This record gives sequence, C-alpha cells and structure tokens, in this order.
Amino acid sequence: MTTLTICSKPLTQPMGSNIDFGVELTGINVESMDDDDFTILRKALYENQVVVIKNQGDLSPRGQYELTRRFDPAAGVYSHGKSIDKRSVLHADLTTIPHQPQVQVIGHGSVKEYEGLTNIQLRHPHHKTFHKEPISAEENDDFTHFYRWHIDSAMYNLDPPLVTSLLAVQVPKGRRQICRYDDGTDTTIDVPLGTTAFFSGYRLYEMLSEEEKLFVRTSKVEYAPHPYIWMSKAKSRSNGLGIVSEGLELSDEELPPFESSKIKTYPMVWKNPVTGKLAMMVYPTCVRKIHLENGEVLDNLPEIRERLYKLQRRAIDPTLIYPHDWQEGDLVLFNNHGVMHSIVGSFKDHEVRIFRQCNMAASRPPMGPDDQISA
Ligand SMILES: [Fe+2]
Repeated sequence: MTTLTICSKPLTQPMGSNIDFGVELTGINVESMDDDDFTILRKALYENQVVVIKNQGDLSPRGQYELTRRFDPAAGVYSHGKSIDKRSVLHADLTTIPHQPQVQVIGHGSVKEYEGLTNIQLRHPHHKTFHKEPISAEENDDFTHFYRWHIDSAMYNLDPPLVTSLLAVQVPKGRRQICRYDDGTDTTIDVPLGTTAFFSGYRLYEMLSEEEKLFVRTSKVEYAPHPYIWMSKAKSRSNGLGIVSEGLELSDEELPPFESSKIKTYPMVWKNPVTGKLAMMVYPTCVRKIHLENGEVLDNLPEIRERLYKLQRRAIDPTLIYPHDWQEGDLVLFNNHGVMHSIVGSFKDHEVRIFRQCNMAASRPPMGPDDQISA
C-alpha cells in the first residue's frame, strides 16, 4: 500500500535555461518501494528523463541495485561486464563494491574505508588525459571542459543500460568553474564543481531539419569492437563531443580478439518506451561506421565524425544543458536511452568526493524508431 504521497516539481535551472526535461520527486521511500510507487517513478523517469530524489544518503548499495534493476528486471551484469581490461580508458575510473558488484564507487581523493573497501584512491576523470587541447595548468582551478558526452555503455557485446542511478555520498562544497567549449566559439557555461551535465536526445531530434531527421531515422551506426581500447590513444575535441581524427585508433590487429557477432550496430534514433518520442542517441566517440538505408556503408572516419558533429553540436548549447548541482544524499536516475551526459570539472587533491553509480547491461537493445511499444 502506498503510504506517502509522491510529489514532483521541476528542477532548479540556471538563468537563461531552456531545458524541457528533469523532475524532482519527493515522498518516495526508495529502499522499500511498493509496485504502485515504482509505477509512478518509472512513468516520471520516462516522461522527464532525469529524476532527482533528495536525502537518500542512507540508501544501501543493495537498495540502490534493487531499485536500478527494477527498471529492467532481466538485466544482470554491470554495464561494462565483470572486469574491465587494463588497456581500456575506463580502467582507472571504476572501483567495484565487493558485496554488490553492480555498484561502483566513483569520485575523487583518498578514502580510508567505504563499504568494505579500504584505502582506496578515487580519481575524478580529468579532461587533460583525454582532450587534445586541455585547459592549461594555470587555469585549471577556474576553467574546465566537458570530459566526454556519452551514453553509459560498453558498446560491444553488452547493450546500454536502460537506467543509471547515481548517489552522492560525499560532496566538496562551494566551488564553481567555468566550462569552456573551446570549439571555435567563445561559448562557456558556469557550472557547479564536478557537475554531471545532461542534454536531451529528444530535444536534439526535434531540432533537426526534416532532411536530417530522415537521415538519422533511417541510418544506423556501427560501434568499434572494444571501443574504449580502440580509442585509447585518440584525443577528444575540447567540448567533449567526439574524437579529433588523427588516425590514432587501434587497428583490428592491435585490439584484443573480438567477434563480429558482438559488434554493436544501433539505430541513430531510439524510441522512448513510454511516450513513444524519438531521441537522437549516437555515442560519437565510439562510432566507426554508418549504415545507410540503401545498404551503403560509410567508413571514412573523419567524414563520419564531421557529419555526426554537425548534427549533435546544437544539443550542447548552454541553454539546453542541465548541470546538476550535487548535494550529499542526492539520488539521480536517468533514462540512458534518452539523454546523454558528461562528467565535468577538476578537483583539487584535498577535495574528496564519493559517489555510487549503478547500472546494468540492458536485457534488450535500444528500441528503434520502427519498434512497437509493448504494454
Ligand atoms: Fe556515465
């Protein structure tokens, strides 16, 4: 029986924001949610894409796992599988909770003890390790870049999780940074330190011309095998929206063995399973080929990237981004098949942040534009 009344309100947005997604829910008992409450939560998630629930600092890793899994009960393993190859660019970013392997501890700084882990050293990914032209060391305290716009996903063998949950356990307070685009424009956005930034794939699709809509609705993208190893020597654009083409991707021979049947090819447009709306969802960093409707396959990487960049750049206009201002106890759930997100910011050594992230490889591939919504 539902004992609390679930209420919702729009998220607090920065001045000048023009976003149309995100909701804060109150009155939800996350740890022991009945089916009625979950139905409301799921609907809220797919109608708003990002759901914030405050004051969840006491949520156990088990509770976070069970909540996240409820969105996809047939899902099982963590989104990147059981172990991450040392050569992967993700290797240093993730620490698994021993008693709940679908939940990762992420963050920054030295932590003596947390959930059975002792003396762990967390490292907030810094764009200097990935961007071709990072912010200089002198400007590093005040300025930053979007690290990498992405969909949570292995993009090889496993399908992208339906929903990701993030819990802020410990958050350094007070500081803000200016995120510079450095993409040939003087665009900047003022963000809270260590924000997670989101944009809506539905809004992006809406903004495309009719011709562009037809192209993305009828084309598919093929992702590289072992994409995080494939890209490990390549460098990102300064606004985090894809790779600078310099031919640095690993060749098939340099990659670990892979099976063609495990390579992922997805529609460029994914359907919302509740509203039926279409989102342009392409993870530009991992793309290797485009398959056109007529069967033609485009494999000129620099050209493909330019084409995708022209389509996606409009989505990261500052007015269309929601940069979440993390407070301790914030639980954020997002529709990983409908929004893309980026890590942002650079912490100082003494600034300790502890987050928990949970997602699981989905039990089904993303819904394409022609798939029917099942009841
Ligand atoms: Fe992510």
